[in-house]
Amino acid sequence: MSIKACIFDMDGVIVDSAKYHFIAWQELAAEIGVSFTEEDNEQLKGLSRVDSLERILKMGDLYLDNDTKLALMDKKNESYLKYIESMNESEILPGVAQFINELEAAGIKIALGSSSKNATVILERINLLSKFGAVIDGNKVTFSKPDPEVFLRGAEALQVEAHECVVFEDATAGVKAAIDGGFKCVGIGDEKVLNQAHFVIPGFENFSLKNLIERFN
Ligand code: BG6
Ligand code: MG
Repeated sequence: MSIKACIFDMDGVIVDSAKYHFIAWQELAAEIGVSFTEEDNEQLKGLSRVDSLERILKMGDLYLDNDTKLALMDKKNESYLKYIESMNESEILPGVAQFINELEAAGIKIALGSSSKNATVILERINLLSKFGAVIDGNKVTFSKPDPEVFLRGAEALQVEAHECVVFEDATAGVKAAIDGGFKCVGIGDEKVLNQAHFVIPGFENFSLKNLIERFN
């Protein structure tokens, strides 16, 4: 079999945290006088914290100094952390835990490739941290998605080549990162939005390792 590893994005793939990112950014945007809708939030999916803030500032035509930007990012993160304080296994997206168990049983290596700096705390909270052979997150990369660095580091940590790995991604920035890095890529979500992926599924419910192998072999 040509698939030796799977690399998962976290937000929107393993756990439905996008709604909490949205509420926290919306609060912050309101505070600085920028209108920010759920549609705007779609554009931020997969982007790092700093890139997300820059997009919001651009929407409001605001130019702020670095210290102010750092303070705003801290504020957003504090509020986000409050929203995810009570997160637990019940917030794992349907079918994900079963699919990961299937990979584990088949000896396929597993890594996380996320832009988030809160990845470890979330994986601990949802009790999945031990499943990952490598966790590459926003604290470990120089360039964030759509740059492929996060996935290339994941493959390196698992000692596999990019073409032997499947990346699961829900954001266009992440799909581009995977494709540019030479990975196989499964989009999670809307086929029209994630059209650069090799194929797209709505989620992991009714999706098995057998289905994955059939699509790529
Ligand atoms: C990505 C999310 O996974 O992580 C983005 O899709 C988020 O919405 C980014 O901004 C950074 O997350 P954090 O937790 O470091 O602020
Ligand atoms: Mg995501």
